[in-house]
Amino acid sequence: MKNFLKILLVASGFVMTVFNLKAQEKDMFNSKILVVYFSKIGEQYAVGNISEGNTAIIAQMIASKTGADLFEVKLQNDTYPKTYKALTEVALEEKKTNFRPEILGDVSNFEDYTTIFIGTPNWWADMPMALYTFIEKHDWNSKTVIPFVTHEGSGLSSIPSKIEKATNAKVLEGLAIYGHVAQNERQNAEKEVDNWLKKLGL
Ligand SMILES: Cc1cc2nc3c(=O)[nH]c(=O)nc-3n(C[C@H](O)[C@H](O)[C@H](O)COP(=O)(O)O)c2cc1C
Repeated sequence: MKNFLKILLVASGFVMTVFNLKAQEKDMFNSKILVVYFSKIGEQYAVGNISEGNTAIIAQMIASKTGADLFEVKLQNDTYPKTYKALTEVALEEKKTNFRPEILGDVSNFEDYTTIFIGTPNWWADMPMALYTFIEKHDWNSKTVIPFVTHEGSGLSSIPSKIEKATNAKVLEGLAIYGHVAQNERQNAEKEVDNWLKKLGL
């Protein structure tokens, strides 16, 4: 009888473990992923006049590889200069004054997403202020955030910790990728994205 009870206990433990693993798998499968990004067309450093932004290219790659939804953060009133040098000056002023531009539209079902990629160009070692406008509109409690940054030499800078501070969310390892690689060397960019997603287990 004792042995029978032991076997019953071990067997029920095994069934519970399998049940829990299945539930976790289901959670992962059901979890919705969002890619939020900001990106700029027009004249950009090292790539000339572009009609598709560097960060937008990476955002689309991530979305198609992970099945994520995409949301582009755009200005309600886009008065940004179309030339690179002038844009850098306006952006620096906005950073210094901690400006929050109005943005167009919103993600209506934000609460449904558990994992959110935030994609940004590196602007003066920071994000364009419009991404802070987006971040501050939402509740990031219990979200997992994954940053990606396009740049021309500065890499991630301290953008992941700025995102962590602004969201208070769990922030996973970010990807830094050269803007000109995203724009002109798609296969190389894709390899970098693939390796990174693999490391993240996505
Ligand atoms: C306003 C502004 C500031 C920038 N500041 C930096 C910088 O500090 N470090 C850097 O590596 N690249 C900097 N860049 C280059 C961009 O990060 C890079 O070109 C990026 O890929 C642009 O992405 P997008 O086409 O998605 O907007 C800056 C570009 C702009 C327009």
